Amino acid sequence: MSHAAAPKPATARKSPALAGKARVPGDKSISHRSFMFGGLASGETRITGLLEGEDVMRTGAAMKAMGAHIEKKGDEWIIRGTGNGALLQPEGPLDFGNAGTGSRLTMGLVGTYDMETTFIGDASLSGRPMGRVLDPLRQMGVQVLKASPGDRMPITLRGPKHAAPITYRVPMASAQVKSAVLLAGLNTPGITTVIEPVMTRDHTEKMLKGFGANLTVETDERGVRHIFIEGQGKLKGQTIAVPGDPSSAGFPLVAALIVPGSDIVIENVLMNPTRTGLLLTLQEMGGRIDILNPRNAGGEDVADLRVRSSDLRGVTVPAERAPSMIDEYPVLAVAASFAEGETLMQGLEELRVKESDRLSAVANGLKLNGVDCTEGEASLAVRGRPGGKGLGGSGPETAVQTHLDHRIAMSFLVMGLATEKPVTIDDANMIATSFPEFMGLMKGLGAEIV
Ligand code: S3P
Repeated sequence: MSHAAAPKPATARKSPALAGKARVPGDKSISHRSFMFGGLASGETRITGLLEGEDVMRTGAAMKAMGAHIEKKGDEWIIRGTGNGALLQPEGPLDFGNAGTGSRLTMGLVGTYDMETTFIGDASLSGRPMGRVLDPLRQMGVQVLKASPGDRMPITLRGPKHAAPITYRVPMASAQVKSAVLLAGLNTPGITTVIEPVMTRDHTEKMLKGFGANLTVETDERGVRHIFIEGQGKLKGQTIAVPGDPSSAGFPLVAALIVPGSDIVIENVLMNPTRTGLLLTLQEMGGRIDILNPRNAGGEDVADLRVRSSDLRGVTVPAERAPSMIDEYPVLAVAASFAEGETLMQGLEELRVKESDRLSAVANGLKLNGVDCTEGEASLAVRGRPGGKGLGGSGPETAVQTHLDHRIAMSFLVMGLATEKPVTIDDANMIATSFPEFMGLMKGLGAEIV
């Protein structure tokens, strides 16, 4: 397991202009859900473009442990699901490694089953709050038989004979919590309702509908979404082509913006509007990003992105935009380090409960490399230095601490491609959780990373 492996430091240094075409791996959110819903549905699901990162593979292993049949033939993953309501009690604990999405959604998926399921994970995942998912599950009749203090893993759940449908208003902007309740509703008689005051990524809603669930969404006059799902219906296997992950695309994208002379194309990127906050923000900052060949593939908008190096300027990123770019703040902070003036990011409270406390991990890494920034309770202000003059310098002894967080690792490697002095991170192992091809892809564009 990656978290048990010896730390593998890596160093990025000032690189020549990046050039060429790249294809980022499949979207992580859609890949997790493809394994889950395919594993649950009746009949066959065929998936191409799946992200084969460690996180998603853990979800596949969990679905297998609960009765799904999953195999890879050529480029295609073929799944024969159990049928809705027919998952089996796993023989051992489900080990989700580093994966918050996999574990939280699966807690919803199986929590309402009349069986015992134990969830474990690595040091990062074991430190993350699970109460946000356990609270609604408790209301549905799920017993939490075991949990570490603060509702943390290891966690053992036992569902009731018949779960109770609830109406649940999601208290924080979280697609994981929304999804966990909707998935719990799949195995619950009657209508489960989720009220979502702030819209987050809508892959669960879209995909469940595609699999045949009776799910409807009504948006009221204040923009609050009411999502209704009818439990115990039939789900039918689907054919899915997973588009490229916009969160992963953020790394080569920012790299091309900050490395002088760069001109690259990133192909087949998911453009779902609940995921495009980074793109919008970078365009506001003066980033030269052309959206080429916009198209619809399998119900999702996708496009190719041409990115050229740009003179960036600081902006204020409104708090309302946070859900559409929640995983992208670390790499945005890197872009901001090369911008003229101040970039102010607000509404960042959720960053504190990601794979690491991303707000402090980013601020500490920036300061270590000479960037002038201020960490607030839920905000980050970065005052950039165009050209990266004087920036960098985190050496082997003082490497950026990545805290088992893949996005911190990738963000700071991107930073080092344009700083005057190299940037070293303490451990590149976790990159494999979401973007195993990162090093090869970046080097293929001309990035100097060792
Ligand atoms: C995800 C939701 C987000 C995001 C995560 C993937 C999902 O988490 O950070 O990487 O696939 O539903 P939260 O729901 O905690 O914001």
